[in-house]
Amino acid sequence: MPTVLGIETSCDETGVGIVADGVLLGDALATSMDEHARFGGVVPEIAARAHLHAVTPMVRHALDRAGIGFGDIDAVAATAGPGLATAVQIGLAAGKAYALALGVPLYGVHNLAGHAAVDVLEHGPLPHRCVALIVSGGHTSLLLVGDLAHDPVVHLGDTVDDAAGEAFDKVARLLGLPYPGGPAIDRVARDGDPAAIAFPRPMKGPNDPPYRFSFSGLKTAVARWVEQRGDRAVPVADVAASFQEAVADTLTRKALAACRDHQVDTLLLVGGVAANSRVRALAEQRCAAAGIHLRVPSPRLCTDNGAMIAAVGDILVRANVAPDRLDLGADPSAVLHGALLHGPGARTTGTQRPVGR
Ligand code: KG4
Repeated sequence: MPTVLGIETSCDETGVGIVADGVLLGDALATSMDEHARFGGVVPEIAARAHLHAVTPMVRHALDRAGIGFGDIDAVAATAGPGLATAVQIGLAAGKAYALALGVPLYGVHNLAGHAAVDVLEHGPLPHRCVALIVSGGHTSLLLVGDLAHDPVVHLGDTVDDAAGEAFDKVARLLGLPYPGGPAIDRVARDGDPAAIAFPRPMKGPNDPPYRFSFSGLKTAVARWVEQRGDRAVPVADVAASFQEAVADTLTRKALAACRDHQVDTLLLVGGVAANSRVRALAEQRCAAAGIHLRVPSPRLCTDNGAMIAAVGDILVRANVAPDRLDLGADPSAVLHGALLHGPGARTTGTQRPVGR
């Protein structure tokens, strides 16, 4: 079975993974998160420099953990977008260099396809058709997904403004919690009352698009509520828990509606925000009640990592998809149409083609 080396550098994590036939052989992760904390968000130049320092050691760590050498690698996959331009360039350049030096094919893959593909490593092959809710720091999308290699990905709805993770990060900041905000809110919300404050559920009205998201108004509602406290202390745990509840409710309600409306019996919940304990619990509860099979990777595989890029590369290799040329360019704002960033699906602008064979 071909062995795929995957490299991820789209944001502040330098991730490397090695996958063969749907099995994770080894992985390694470095993060520059602490270097960004004092700025309250990721500084692209700092992230890129950190990737430059970390990528080679992470490749060596992943190979050591897998117990293999460079000669055992049959293909290289690297994130070619979307992400921070300078950060993506480092991992893609490293991927090209390894592919060239080892004489193996290169796949420039879409970061969000990696989020979806990583679940294969824990829960086996994807079903023939599923609804995927991808919730990360930069994206919030409800998608109809097939095999990732050939079937075009259909966008049912995306966020019209902030992504869910971005809302977590911004609300955390206004509550004085550290970056990254998602895990911080998740932690403090454990001591709060999710019903303490009735924050709005965005895009829920009968005339709103059923699968679109908007989190900017919710973020503003939290900011107003905090402002109105004036000199009184802000009950941070209650605000965090109530905000988190509004996000979890909105995400899971729309995801279940998408499954129901499209007669799909599997929901794939992935991306950094899928690590959130309340989002996971509510998704489990609602999927169980609706008879929908929920697939969600363990929290460590929800946030950016190298295993997910190796996993998507492995899917492409096994599906005999033609690799990229070494002059492939990065695309920091690539829309997800398929696993291969510049694959045939990437030229498909119509978003309503059916998925499945
Ligand atoms: O998928 P991801 O690692 O990559 C990017 O989008 O770059 O997602 C990162 C996002 C951040 O916004 C972070 O705050 C959020 O995922 N996140 C969480 C949790 N862990 C990470 N949000 C809510 N609860 C969490 N436990």
